[in-house]
Amino acid sequence: MPKLYWEKKDENHPQKSNYSQNEFQVCELIINPIISSLVSDNDISKNKRSRNQKQEKGSTTWKNLLIWGENKSIMEVLNHKFSNKINLIYIDPPYATGSNFESKTFIGENNSFESKKAYSDIWIGGIDEYIDFLYDRLVLMKNLLSENGSIYVHLDWHVSHYIKVILDEIFGKENFRNEIVWAYPAASAKTRRFFIRSFDSILFYTKSNEYTFNDDPGIYMEYSDRVKFALKEDDKGTFYYRGGSHNGKKLSQKVYVTNKGIFPRDVWTDIPYIRANTLEYQAFSTQKPERLLKRIILASTNKDDIVADFFCGTGTSLAVAEKLGRKWIGSDIAKQAVNISRKRILDVWNSNDMIDWKKKYERQSQPFKIMRQNGYLQTINAYKDFLVENIQKKDTISLNQSIKFVVNISEEDSKITVELIDYKISSLNLIKNSVKNRIHNFSDWIDSWSIDFNHQEHSFTTAWISYRTLKNRKLNLTSIPYNYEEKGKHKISIKVNDILGIETIQDYEVVIS
Ligand SMILES: C[S@@+](CC[C@H](N)C(=O)[O-])C[C@H]1O[C@@H](n2cnc3c(N)ncnc32)[C@H](O)[C@@H]1O
Repeated sequence: MPKLYWEKKDENHPQKSNYSQNEFQVCELIINPIISSLVSDNDISKNKRSRNQKQEKGSTTWKNLLIWGENKSIMEVLNHKFSNKINLIYIDPPYATGSNFESKTFIGENNSFESKKAYSDIWIGGIDEYIDFLYDRLVLMKNLLSENGSIYVHLDWHVSHYIKVILDEIFGKENFRNEIVWAYPAASAKTRRFFIRSFDSILFYTKSNEYTFNDDPGIYMEYSDRVKFALKEDDKGTFYYRGGSHNGKKLSQKVYVTNKGIFPRDVWTDIPYIRANTLEYQAFSTQKPERLLKRIILASTNKDDIVADFFCGTGTSLAVAEKLGRKWIGSDIAKQAVNISRKRILDVWNSNDMIDWKKKYERQSQPFKIMRQNGYLQTINAYKDFLVENIQKKDTISLNQSIKFVVNISEEDSKITVELIDYKISSLNLIKNSVKNRIHNFSDWIDSWSIDFNHQEHSFTTAWISYRTLKNRKLNLTSIPYNYEEKGKHKISIKVNDILGIETIQDYEVVIS
């Protein structure tokens, strides 16, 4: 079989990990917290929330995982526990485009935003370096996949041909199932020197020949306009045509077609690119549509299976897995991607339902943990290039250390209420004027803030949270009153995430008498 060779190719992949399980620390536990905007949403009653809480108690101890860090070491660590356990891996890695990709940071309550780099897709060592990068990671992914598992690698014309050859080598040519063409109308089309590029390739492989693949009605493609024209739709949305025969005589009866569409071909033309006016939009330039992930996850997994995405970006695959009742593991090297994914999962109740798209999902997420690789200083990932004037590392560290917030904690009848009253950055000289000029109130700095009312040791358990989303810019600056059943001292930990991507935690002690 032909193989691809590149500089530094190492076919002897060390099976032993250099990393122990202690490589990661849990930095946040999110177990059905009180979400400020959900409690105040009249459409989605508190009933639904409490119903969810009951379900929660009966469920297993599994917690979904969102990990901030470099995915090679993350996968090496996961291999200790998840080798042959993951049922589906979807990845949408950088495609060696030679560009930087942007996302928007919104400031305050209006629609003012600052664009910033989301991640870089520039490879100094050229295509060799890129292929070497992905090769190592694909080998690790194969180890993680279960025997009935599948992997979908989302790429485009830049490298899909190279990676196809590598995937044949790693997974075996016989386990190649499809090259899916996701075709979308190209938005801008300035070139007249070649044909306009308007599709991505998704390479689908399985670990073995015994793999999960479901003929689920949710994966079907809509009938084409031509078929829809020939078929008629009744008022229940079911399609039929007029025809049939009896004793050789042609009839004009309604003949119903059983499926709501056609079983998918490998060219997908029915899934539009993300638009800014949709609920799922996260203002991140390479975000993928939830409908794309819905088809992949429904086809290649069953309920409670584990779905992983090691380049999760805005968390599209994680949100879809969550809503389809699958377990999930996501990782990203960029702090801001982890921040976006965290809020997206928290806000999943307010997103489209996967089965009935016109409805909202209306349920809170299953418990999840946010983990961080040891030594990942948040300062190195502050959105320094775009939001901070000087991009020296020492400056961002001093910026990080110069942040303090002020709260007012009040007690009434054993109930504690926390109010956020100020946010102070003493090294304001490091922040870009274009950002500073748009800050009118201290709360404009803040993207989300959360409280752990019973803080214990290392990890932060979010009990209450208020966050801004793109569609709802309001932030609640006063928490709900929290009732302590036990008298005595309690430790409260408060976390503020700002628009610069910086997280600040301050601890307090309250005494209930
Ligand atoms: C194309 S985007 C993924 C977009 C995602 N599918 C979505 O729908 O939002 C690629 C992501 O890979 C992340 N990334 C790049 N190299 C990485 C690495 N070595 N480890 C973890 N994440 C990485 C980037 O930070 C970026 O968020």
